Amino acid sequence: MENSTSEVNSERHSSWDTDVLIIGSGAAGLRAALAASKHANVTLITKTTLTESNTHYAQGGIAVAMNLDDTIALHIKDTCTAGAGLCDAKAVEIMVSEGIPRVAELLDWGANFDWEGALPRFTQEAAHSRRRIVHKGDATGRETTDVLIQRVLNTENIHVLQNTFAIDLLTDAETAKGSEEIGTCYGVTAIVDEEAVCIRARATILATGGLGRVYPCTSNPKVATGDGFAAAWRAGCEMVDMEFVQFHPTTLYLDGAPNFLISEAVRGEGGQLISIRGERFMEKYHEKGELAPRDVVSRAIQIEMELTGFPCVYLDITHKPAEFIHERFPTISDTTKHYGLDISVDLIPVRPGAHFMMGGIRTNTDTETNLKGLYACGEVACTGVHGANRLASNSLLECLVYGARAGTNAATFASIQPSHPPDILLDGNTESSQIPYIEADSASIEAIKDAIRETLWENVSIERNGEGLRQTLAELQDLTTNLGEVPTTPVPSDITLIETVNMLNVALMITESALARTESRGAHYRADFPTQDNTDWHRRILIKSDNLPEVISL
Ligand code: FAD
Ligand code: SIN
Repeated sequence: MENSTSEVNSERHSSWDTDVLIIGSGAAGLRAALAASKHANVTLITKTTLTESNTHYAQGGIAVAMNLDDTIALHIKDTCTAGAGLCDAKAVEIMVSEGIPRVAELLDWGANFDWEGALPRFTQEAAHSRRRIVHKGDATGRETTDVLIQRVLNTENIHVLQNTFAIDLLTDAETAKGSEEIGTCYGVTAIVDEEAVCIRARATILATGGLGRVYPCTSNPKVATGDGFAAAWRAGCEMVDMEFVQFHPTTLYLDGAPNFLISEAVRGEGGQLISIRGERFMEKYHEKGELAPRDVVSRAIQIEMELTGFPCVYLDITHKPAEFIHERFPTISDTTKHYGLDISVDLIPVRPGAHFMMGGIRTNTDTETNLKGLYACGEVACTGVHGANRLASNSLLECLVYGARAGTNAATFASIQPSHPPDILLDGNTESSQIPYIEADSASIEAIKDAIRETLWENVSIERNGEGLRQTLAELQDLTTNLGEVPTTPVPSDITLIETVNMLNVALMITESALARTESRGAHYRADFPTQDNTDWHRRILIKSDNLPEVISL
């Protein structure tokens, strides 16, 4: 998709000014807001409500080396082992060590976590770690967001705007036009109450979370359409590791039920995977059985689904006492009950789904991007902390640590910026996304979204190969053309249209990067290159809006 910026028409946009603008109300955005508010006036915008985010649905816990028989060194080692050779050592060291005070302060602020002692509870950690996991039953995310939101709402100089949809980053005209320099970021264009507005800022933090919704099966809520990745890419930001999408083995597969995760803590507590034939199968695939790494379990489930021709497998925890199950997994129990399933007596139908994006906007450990004045943190960012695969429970930790860093650094940057941004600003509006100024037929837009999801699921999910990846690239190009031809009947679907453009942008980035990496590593599995190639591929893939994937050294 060609990238051609357009000048923002001030007559069409009313505007709002702030020192630090934060986009997103997950753990990263909320923590960033608290840090920035110590030095600056902050505006935090979020797509729907403050509570709607991946963070809110997090179940398993927060990994943190707060245990006598755990150490920072062990946590670093486990993180790097999971990351399959691509973790950035400095970024990991910072996350693990600064994670301890970040979690301690969350407890101080009232988070009522349970402490899981030295229990090998999580699949990826089971064999070699006795790390403490702080969790709140299976509602860790809710507890985390509740505490952070309360604190944000009690902070005077944080202004919250809900139902505010960020579209594109504003950059300065002088340096951006036709030069290698991509300039400085001065906020975003956004839609508030169906009106396009400019939110101008001295410093901007993208904390827009993940992109699970570009796949049909996912653990992610509706807001996760990859908007931040796409906006940053359109503005010329460097994107890295975009081929590494983590698929969680067990999302609920139940007619009429929403996308919903069945935490791997259920397998950690002894849950067994069973095919429709009633057979346990994980021993066939890995010595650790159900406690094998996520990519291994996801691939095994997919193979079993293909072998049996059945669209799911089952998770069985019924051998545990009912009281224990309901107490340990209250959210999972309540949600499944609502759809007629009692997990203490019934098998849980599950299948893999897109869960987490390891790649994203390239940042250094100060959360700076290559666009001056733009910071990124949380799932949308890539410091290299997760490498090719994320260790369970490390994401919330990353959000707290790098969210706090982003807030402090953005506020410092804002304090030395002139009070008025340049008169002429550009947004990253692409030719095929003249957004939000065209109105499109919502059925056609939904059909394009479904087609993106289908082709990604078919060719760019748990198992990939060159032929399928090339086919998807061609299909995405066609869909991009179709989007330009969508009938423009008057339906108020601007946000859906922008999301569709964003989904196309991120689908292209994932597919191009997956095609470039001709090996298997971490969460990226190529059936045509099934082994890890440390000679040629101990490297990363960088992608920008104006060129093809580039292979860079670590
Ligand atoms: P999010 O929490 O996703 O927040 C992003 C925010 O940006 C949202 O408020 C969203 O509305 C907003 N936004 C997006 N686009 C726009 C836009 N265009 N304009 C304005 N706002 C926008 N990790 C762990 O460490 N432990 C766990 O136990 C765990 N369990 C998980 C369970 C589930 C079901 C899921 C989905 C993930 C889980 N993860 C877990 C991963 C972890 O929760 C996420 O990676 C992390 O919470 C991401 O936080 P974030 O702040 O970066 O983004
Ligand atoms: C889970 O509880 O299974 C998810 C944990 C994570 O993604 O870290």
